[in-house]
Amino acid sequence: MKAFEFANGVYWVGCVDYDHHDFHGYSKSPEGTTYNAYFIKDEKNTLIDTVAPGKAGTLLCRLGSVIEPEKVDYLVINHMELDHEGSLPEVIARCKPEKIFCSTMALKSMEGYYAKEMQNWPVQAVKSGDSISIGKRTLVFQETRMLHWPDSMVTYCPEEKILFSQDAFGQNIASTEHFADEHDPADFLKRCKEYYFNIVVPYSPQVLKALPVVESLDIEFIAPDHGLIHRGEDCKKIVDLYRVMAEQKPRKRAVIIYDTMWHSTEQLAYAVSAGLEEEGVPSTIMSLKENHHSAVMTALADASALVVGSPTHNNTVLPYVMSALTYIKGLRPKILVGGAFGSYGWSGESPKIINEFLASMKIELPCDPVRENWRPSHDGLQRAHDMGVAIAKALKAKCGE
Ligand code: FEO
Repeated sequence: MKAFEFANGVYWVGCVDYDHHDFHGYSKSPEGTTYNAYFIKDEKNTLIDTVAPGKAGTLLCRLGSVIEPEKVDYLVINHMELDHEGSLPEVIARCKPEKIFCSTMALKSMEGYYAKEMQNWPVQAVKSGDSISIGKRTLVFQETRMLHWPDSMVTYCPEEKILFSQDAFGQNIASTEHFADEHDPADFLKRCKEYYFNIVVPYSPQVLKALPVVESLDIEFIAPDHGLIHRGEDCKKIVDLYRVMAEQKPRKRAVIIYDTMWHSTEQLAYAVSAGLEEEGVPSTIMSLKENHHSAVMTALADASALVVGSPTHNNTVLPYVMSALTYIKGLRPKILVGGAFGSYGWSGESPKIINEFLASMKIELPCDPVRENWRPSHDGLQRAHDMGVAIAKALKAKCGE
C-alpha cells in the first residue's frame, strides 16, 4: 500500500474500511467509510491525525512508502474521537514524534483515553490562531468546538492552500477514489447529507459561525478525515452545501415513519401520504422494520414534516418507533410540522404518546392524532388522508405558499 500525493509533498496516508457499517456506534454507513490521515514532507515531517483502532498497520505502511515512520517529527491531532486516534499509542510508539499538537480540550480527552500510555508523550496544547513552522510551510490551528466534539480543531496550511478539516465536510464513502470530483455526483450528495444529518446537524449553529472563517481562507483543497478530498471549485460547493444543510430552510416534503403489526397502521401511513400528495407535498414512507433510524435522518435532510405511526402494543408504542424518535430528537433537526397515527385493539395509547413526543420536539401539530380501532374503516382512512391534507397545508404555509 502506498501513500497518495495529492499536493506537492502532501500525502494521504489513510485507511479505507469497506466493512465498517456501524459508524460511530449509532449510525449506518452503508458504503463503509474512510479514516483519513495526512503526511506533509518538510523540514519537520508532520503527520496529521491517525486512524481507527486496528488500522495503524495500514497507515504506517502507506507512510513507509514515503519516509521511514521514525522520521516523523510532528504529529497534529485535530480530533480525539477514536476513529481518528484509536491507533495513537501504536503510531506514537513507532514514529516517536518530537512534538504532538492538539487543542486543550483534546488533551483532556487524551488523558481520559490514554492516561497510562501518554505519560511520556510530548504533547503541546494549542489554541485558535496559534501557528507552527514546519520548514517551508506553516500550520495554523483553529478550534472548532463541537464540530464534532469539544476538542475538535482544523489545521490550515496557507502555502499549500489546504484545510485539514477533520470530521467537517466528510462523507462515509469507501473507495479507491481520492477526490470528490471522481465520485458519482448523486451518490456523493447523498453521502454528504447522510453524514451531516447523522453526525453534524445538532451543531448547525456552530457550522454557521465557522463557515465565514473557512470562506476567508484561500483554499485549494479541503481534506476531511472521512471520505473524499474536495479540490478546486468543489471546495466552494461543499461550503455552500453545508450552509444549506445548517440553515435548514423550510423544505416542502414530508417523511412518514411507522411500524406495524398486522398492516393496519401501514394502511394509515399510505392514506396520510395520499392526503399530502393531493396537496402537492411529496412524501417518503419508511417502514422502521426496513429502514434504520440513520436512513430516516438522511431522508429528513430534504423534508420539514415528520408523521409518525405506531399501533398500540402493551399500552405504548412499538420499540422501533420510540427508538427512532429518541434518535431524531437528539439530533435536533428543524422539523416544522408533524402528526401521529396508529391502530389499536383495546387501549389505543400510542398516537397520543407519539403526539406528546413530537410536541416535546417543538413540532407544530395541526390536527389531533388519528387513532383507529382494529382494521381502519373507509372513514378511518379518510381521517388519515385528511391529516395528510392538514399537514400539507401547514407545511406549505411555512414554505411561504
Ligand atoms: Fe470521525 Fe467525531 O469522529
